[in-house]
Amino acid sequence: MSRPIIIAPSILSSDFSRLADEIKAVQNAGADWIHADVMDGHYVPNLTFGPPVVKAIRPHVKGVLDVHLMIAPVDPYLQAFADAGSDIISVHVESGPHLHRSLQAIRAMGKKAGVVLNPSTHESALYYVKDIVDLVLVMSVNPGFGGQAFIPQAVEKVRNIRAMVGPNVIIEVDGGVTPETAPALVRAGADALVAGAAVFKGGNEDAYRKNITAIRQSVSTITV
Ligand code: DX5
Ligand code: ZN
Repeated sequence: MSRPIIIAPSILSSDFSRLADEIKAVQNAGADWIHADVMDGHYVPNLTFGPPVVKAIRPHVKGVLDVHLMIAPVDPYLQAFADAGSDIISVHVESGPHLHRSLQAIRAMGKKAGVVLNPSTHESALYYVKDIVDLVLVMSVNPGFGGQAFIPQAVEKVRNIRAMVGPNVIIEVDGGVTPETAPALVRAGADALVAGAAVFKGGNEDAYRKNITAIRQSVSTITV
């Protein structure tokens, strides 16, 4: 039997002037989660949006709202993103001095806690927090922009992380995910795939359906 794979379109590549409609369209087109990329122009060289926008989109998200924080320091903003209605809050290893404390804080707010590893961050950074993590987000591009080329070392990293965390932690991959790059990631143990450019190309619901279906079909026969 094939494993169910979560597809999480990143709204970074959507039309920001029509966010609610874009979220509705990708959900109709088969999206499982909605992935929201928060950038501060400091931890990463780009700026996006903060808690008010997350709160504004929340009522339009039918399922899981997966919030990826690319901000430093991150701790002062966790409560605001929890209050805005995030379901999963993921923080980068480098986004504060006390990763363990940040994860404890997210869980204490009743949210799922995620850790994000940059392409240059070794998976050993997870070792002493693996018991308080619900999700590991493996970056397969350097964070900051959509539409970048996939960095293939992410596949080995996913395999190593799966061996370290066991079956109950969700492994999500973010950056350059396409029908071409997805199969190796799923074979290595990924459960969830973020995709921005590969989902939102075409600009309408029919295109999104085709794009999501192409990613899903590329991994549909993988059983491990
Ligand atoms: C990059 C973001 C990603 C981005 C992925 O910093 O974390 O979520 O939107 O975009 P694609 O799928 O276009 O590489
Ligand atoms: Zn992201």
